[in-house]
Amino acid sequence: MTEIKGVGVLGCGLMGSGIAQVAAAAGYDTLVRDVSRDIWDRARAGIEKSLAKFVEKGKLTAAQRDAALKRLTFTTTTGDLARCDIVVEAVTEDLELKNALWQELDGRSAPATIFASNTSSLTIAAMAAATRRGDRFVGLHFFNPVPLMPLIEVVRTVTTSEETFRRAFAFAKSLGKEPVAAKDNSGFIVNLLLVPYLLDAIRAVEHGVASVPDIDKAMQLGCGYPMGPLTLLDLVGLDTTYRIAEIMFTEYREQRYAPPPLLKHMVIAGLNGRKSGKGFYDYSVDPPKLVALGI
Ligand SMILES: NC(=O)c1ccc[n+]([C@@H]2O[C@H](COP(=O)([O-])OP(=O)(O)OC[C@H]3O[C@@H](n4cnc5c(N)ncnc54)[C@H](O)[C@@H]3O)[C@@H](O)[C@H]2O)c1
Repeated sequence: MTEIKGVGVLGCGLMGSGIAQVAAAAGYDTLVRDVSRDIWDRARAGIEKSLAKFVEKGKLTAAQRDAALKRLTFTTTTGDLARCDIVVEAVTEDLELKNALWQELDGRSAPATIFASNTSSLTIAAMAAATRRGDRFVGLHFFNPVPLMPLIEVVRTVTTSEETFRRAFAFAKSLGKEPVAAKDNSGFIVNLLLVPYLLDAIRAVEHGVASVPDIDKAMQLGCGYPMGPLTLLDLVGLDTTYRIAEIMFTEYREQRYAPPPLLKHMVIAGLNGRKSGKGFYDYSVDPPKLVALGI
């Protein structure tokens, strides 16, 4: 069994930057690939800010923070990740894009290298089938924000080998996370249940059931959730949620996964949530204020 030393991360948006951070903090040499250095500069600034908070809270020493930052490197060349022992992919939720990257890497990576996707809604089998390493392909589904959320769903397909699954599970634990095993069904465990809830919250806004803040407040105080569904949608990203809903609707043909028109219209308008500055709320001010949606 090859020891995992080098971790590759494809994509450093919301999720990839968090995955890179926890991998580097756990002691892995971590090589990140995205399309431009600007994106990396933004991601790295976010990582530095997050690590600083861990130091402030006494969860990390300044020396551990510095060591973690030193272990992080960046490239715009996918092939550079061929030297990694595990590659975790967190690029945009698009099967064609993901498979093009996997195919580029497959021929170059060492035989023992594990491929892991952080997809929210695609099946791992649909990616594994595009490569010649179906036995060394898993899902590693992290949660947002990655440095704070303890769960990882470890997903095996019908072709994942027992050894790959064990190595991936051990890798998830080595990041200080709590892994659970999930089957390769679209949405795994959490999104299978969470996505219809989030989409229903948007439908409630469309139907004028209550105001956005009141829907959030009701679910927070009534169910004990740490945040309401519309605040959570802003955190996840409305563009990502829209892609996830489309994929899950196509997979299950069930109305509860159908993206509501309001979600689509907000994405078209660039209201993608926190990462774009505005979604249901406007994050340019503190505390965030409600966005007038004109519905
Ligand atoms: N947002 C969430 O809460 C969440 C949670 C769990 C899983 N996911 C999944 O994680 C993945 C990424 O989601 P995200 O929220 O980080 O999205 P994001 O939009 O924040 O980031 C996607 C990144 O992929 C990069 N990218 C695009 N094409 C690329 C390429 N050819 N090579 C390298 N990088 C490329 C983009 O530049 C961007 O930085 C998706 O599969 C999503 O479903 C998201």
